[in-house]
Amino acid sequence: MRVAILGTGYVGLTTGVCLAYLGHSVVCVDPVVEKIDSLRHGSIPIFEPGLEELLREASQRMGFTTNPAEAIPEAEVVVICVGTPVQADGTPDLSQLRSASESLGRHMGLHFTVVVNKSTVPIGSSNWVEALVCAAFEESHDEKAEARFAVASNPEFLREGSAVADSLYPDRIVLGTEDLRALEILCALYRPLIDQDFPAPAFCPRPPGVTAIPFVSTDLPSAELIKYAANAFLALKISFINEIGLLAQRVGADVGEIARGIGLDSRIGRQFLQAGLGWGGSCFAKDTSTLITTAAEYGLSLPIVGAAREVNQRLRARVLERLLDELKILKGKRIGLLGLAFKPNTDDLRDAPAIDIAKRLSLHGALVVAHDPVAMPRFQREQAGLPVALLDSPEGVFQRADAVVLVTEWQTYLDLTWEALQPVMRNPLLVDGRNVLDKQRLVAAGYRHVGIP
Ligand code: UDX
Repeated sequence: MRVAILGTGYVGLTTGVCLAYLGHSVVCVDPVVEKIDSLRHGSIPIFEPGLEELLREASQRMGFTTNPAEAIPEAEVVVICVGTPVQADGTPDLSQLRSASESLGRHMGLHFTVVVNKSTVPIGSSNWVEALVCAAFEESHDEKAEARFAVASNPEFLREGSAVADSLYPDRIVLGTEDLRALEILCALYRPLIDQDFPAPAFCPRPPGVTAIPFVSTDLPSAELIKYAANAFLALKISFINEIGLLAQRVGADVGEIARGIGLDSRIGRQFLQAGLGWGGSCFAKDTSTLITTAAEYGLSLPIVGAAREVNQRLRARVLERLLDELKILKGKRIGLLGLAFKPNTDDLRDAPAIDIAKRLSLHGALVVAHDPVAMPRFQREQAGLPVALLDSPEGVFQRADAVVLVTEWQTYLDLTWEALQPVMRNPLLVDGRNVLDKQRLVAAGYRHVGIP
């Protein structure tokens, strides 16, 4: 099947490469010339494990262009994957969605085209996309757009850092459309995924037990709301365990044990109960905020979602509180941060706790030094104004430090020879921001170990 993808961010690029790997003919469109140039040379502009290897395997069936006219007219399916960043008032900026929809309408061929919206958009946006495509098509083709295309919502649930596995072996595929023809075409598009009959790439093997993927076919607004509800639920699961973690800390209980104890209840489940610095990234903050503003438009408040946000926000101040408790004065103290990215296996710094923590520490006069295995170049570009000294090695972060904070649980940090690093610190205080380190081992090595929350 011929597919055009509009937007080459995490979602667009991963979706395009995976569809090409599954045998479809895919052209990705993005207005940023440098991005398209680097993709044409087989180089991925983001850090996403496995994506470059998959692109190599699928390159025969992939094209990249800045010109929509080279991709849209031939496509049977056009997937919109443009960004919808949150604005200062909490609402998403839909300007990229508007221009993608208008360009789609202008360039759409005369055959039946399925317009798939994968961008996370406010409820009802698919109707808006339909109206924009329709108007642009009729203006440029001098023909009625009726029955020439149908819009479907197909939310994406991939996580950064495991985007390839999440796309090839998803927990479910959600499709929202009222058009039976569109549904048939999209079923055919995803058939290899649904049946799981494609050869798994060697570097991303099929997990045991994955034989077929559940398929949820529904109406447009339900598909749109499923995405928000899923992200809000995951965010509140994390905030819940962190709220319990605060109480656990006061009464001397272990939040990790509590997560294990409740997570083994199959009604609760073990995932997304890792207490620590809380959630960051491009999705949870944006989607919970949009959910609240959307509900407000319909005269509703969502107190549970609001509380999840509030708890998460409080965690950002928690590292500073813990350091002040321990060190009393931060002025002139050297504080080391291990990890800058919002989670391991990505270089994404959007809403990363490390940025908040570094800002708060600098305001208190601390000298902040940091390391991240992949996110330092991006940090230098995007956070140039922040007084953080970036170091070449994680070991350097411990040198003469008054405290070290594990912010992002990269495997390379878990594998450090912690015993050897304690003596090089000025004061062996370790704040385990993700509760992933072996407390007994660290205490035995002479560290003062403090968890978050
Ligand atoms: C999320 C959703 O999981 C994905 O389905 C959606 O499509 C996009 O948003 P992502 O933001 O890439 O994915 O990462 P995710 O693995 O969900 O982690 C989000 C944040 O929660 C990270 O900052 C992570 O460190 C934090 N987290 C996650 C916890 O603090 N505790 C947990 O138990 C799990």
